[in-house]
Amino acid sequence: MSEPILSARDIVAGYVHGLPIVHGVSVDVAPGEIVTIVGPNGAGKSTLLKAIAGLVVFESGTVTFGGRDVSGRPAHEMVKSGIGFVPQTGNIFTNLSIQENLIVGAHTVSRADLRLRLQRAYEHFPVLAERRASAGRVLSGGQRQMLAVARALMTDPKAIMLDEPTAGLSPKVVADVFADLRRLTELNVAVLMVEQNAKAAIRISNRAYVLTEGRNYIAGTPEALLNDPAIGEAFLGGRRTAQASGAG
Ligand SMILES: Nc1ncnc2c1ncn2[C@@H]1O[C@H](COP(=O)(O)OP(=O)(O)O)[C@@H](O)[C@H]1O
Ligand SMILES: [Mg+2]
Repeated sequence: MSEPILSARDIVAGYVHGLPIVHGVSVDVAPGEIVTIVGPNGAGKSTLLKAIAGLVVFESGTVTFGGRDVSGRPAHEMVKSGIGFVPQTGNIFTNLSIQENLIVGAHTVSRADLRLRLQRAYEHFPVLAERRASAGRVLSGGQRQMLAVARALMTDPKAIMLDEPTAGLSPKVVADVFADLRRLTELNVAVLMVEQNAKAAIRISNRAYVLTEGRNYIAGTPEALLNDPAIGEAFLGGRRTAQASGAG
């Protein structure tokens, strides 16, 4: 791995001061890397992303971004400093048009830049360009995720965090969303995501972390994690999922 742009060290965080859910987790992401976090329900994966994003009670630990200490900063400062966050639900405005969703995402961007950013979003996601005047609610699940990602990219973040971007999507659409994320890394964006579609996500990742009970359990390359039978059985859905997921 090259030098990480986003580095979280020993993060302790939760929803109520003094009752942490995340008990000292560390993760790193380098520019152009996709790093995936998997683990059982309730392991604290979402809480970890929210802790980095400045959305929950940050007890201790260090978040370094681009060499700057941004530990425990509030969400708007994180966005300003260049970390985008796509939460699991409620990540688009269904009553606004696609273009309006993108513009809302770019509220910190100057008028001149806004035109360029819209153009870039539509080049990157042509399906959004075709439907730019349509309300968010008419989009399919996969298109909504694309819009959520496109919206987060409007501020030109250097890192983007996504919480279960493929939740509820069909396997074909899951593959489309992952392909879009893979293309993002060509812009040298650092991608940190939490995924339940663990095997498929790990396959398109540079590295992955398994979290359990608010702690780092194991981390490694896709090959190391996917070929470890103990990890597969316990954390990646076991053999049944491997067969059901088919060729990826
Ligand atoms: N808004 C919340 N308020 C209080 N506790 C929460 C909240 N969201 C999640 N939790 C608790 O935090 C723990 C970890 O949740 P979460 O980070 O969502 O896990 P994961 O994303 O790995 O499934 C769970 O025990 C859950 O009940
Ligand atoms: Mg979660």
